[in-house]
Amino acid sequence: MEMNRRGFLHSAALAGTGSMIGLKKYAERSTRISKNGKLNVAILGSGFRGQSHIDLCLRRNDCDVVAIADIDEEMISRSQSLFQKHNSKMPKIYSDSPHAYLELLQKEDIDLTIIASPWRWHSDMAIASMEAGVYTGMEVCGGFSLDECWQLVNCSERTGSHLYFMENVCFRRDILAVLNMVRKSMFGELIHLEGGYQHDLRGVKFNDGKTAYNSGVEFGEMGFSEAKWRTKHSVYRNGDLYPTHGVGPIAQMIDINRGNRFMYLTSISSKSRGLHNYILDHPEGGNSHKNASIKFKLGDKVTTCIKTSNDESVILHHDTNLPRPYSLGFRVQGEKGLWMDVNQSLHIEGKSPSHRWEEASSYLKKYDHPLWVKYEQNAIGAGHGGMDYFLMHSLVEHCKNNEEPPFDVYDAATWLAITPLSEESISLGSHPVSFPDFTRGRWTERKNDFALNDRY
Ligand SMILES: NC(=O)c1ccc[n+]([C@@H]2O[C@H](COP(=O)([O-])OP(=O)(O)OC[C@H]3O[C@@H](n4cnc5c(N)ncnc54)[C@H](O)[C@@H]3O)[C@@H](O)[C@H]2O)c1
Repeated sequence: MEMNRRGFLHSAALAGTGSMIGLKKYAERSTRISKNGKLNVAILGSGFRGQSHIDLCLRRNDCDVVAIADIDEEMISRSQSLFQKHNSKMPKIYSDSPHAYLELLQKEDIDLTIIASPWRWHSDMAIASMEAGVYTGMEVCGGFSLDECWQLVNCSERTGSHLYFMENVCFRRDILAVLNMVRKSMFGELIHLEGGYQHDLRGVKFNDGKTAYNSGVEFGEMGFSEAKWRTKHSVYRNGDLYPTHGVGPIAQMIDINRGNRFMYLTSISSKSRGLHNYILDHPEGGNSHKNASIKFKLGDKVTTCIKTSNDESVILHHDTNLPRPYSLGFRVQGEKGLWMDVNQSLHIEGKSPSHRWEEASSYLKKYDHPLWVKYEQNAIGAGHGGMDYFLMHSLVEHCKNNEEPPFDVYDAATWLAITPLSEESISLGSHPVSFPDFTRGRWTERKNDFALNDRY
């Protein structure tokens, strides 16, 4: 490490922004490799997602996971067993309190933090990490307020620290193939796009032979993993709570914050029945269960329409509390045709039979993205069909070079903002609400180079 940051960290992360000049100097160095030639990585939140990130880091020869902050003994023990599996040096554990991550940032020499905690902690942790001059990877979610989004932007600009928003679906194989096709103008000029998060999350079931939970009926303190914290958002909030798996890939296809931007959205929410019925009908629930009287605020289907400055329309679906198969519901439509993922089909005028769908598979193969062609073998065994390999590779390589991430703090703020904006729109009877321009006008000059080089 080039300098000892502990003095800075003490005052910056724990007590505010007093040492910004020193931290900025640290953040501006051109590469971030530790003395031993590897990145020192810290994991903030080592639940199931954090453990997947630990596993991917430990598979690489350029990362040491040196520290973990978490507050759950079982999750810490599960994480430690990954180090045994990989025969890697055990990390330092910070677990004394929900704020133990601050002590970690103060005491450890970290090059990269990966934040995989519950949503409520993402921005606090990201801001502390950026204040500490550390390259910061932050897991996906929706935001809580526009103020929170601005705080992320302001912190990154003030400190010079990069925020990499870890939207893995941008690396999905079919998504990258379709992006390739979009860039080759196969669909013509794009007109309309759809995506979202459509995943039955009612029962957060888990059974690994050692531990078995079915925490769909029980949640909060009685729940396990995401049921401990995620279900509660359905009690108190009504909006698109998880927009980024849909909007991230769409943003790459229409250059959002790079020549194009989101102008306004309007959201509509349906009635809420799914979670209540689930509790009533479940063998562990029933009419007399204490959760049977809870009134869930989140509409079972939240639909958000966005207008872009380039005159495209975008629809985002949020649908997590009804019985349904998983689908992110992508649709990419232009002057010459469209692709949809739910029926794995496309139609291209002049190529496809008139008025008929064609199976997309031969096109997806033909236009397979060069990154997948080159790195397919490396991605075997990585989470979510391999796309998590590409995400981790991109994060690590951008961190090593201290480079601007493909999904940066402006994208994070814009995508996170969809949640509070959709909540506001719904509360106003689906009134349109405007997106702030988090780039402060720089969207007109920025260029989209996602997935155009070997670091992605
Ligand atoms: N991109 C994806 O495909 C994907 C998939 C799953 C989860 N996620 C995201 O990853 C994040 C974590 O999800 P998960 O499924 O691992 O949940 P989880 O509940 O399994 O893990 C969260 C962990 O954070 C810990 N934690 C809570 N408060 C903390 C604090 N103050 N300091 C340190 N640790 C704390 C918990 O003890 C737990 O171990 C969420 O934001 C979720 O949306 C993303």
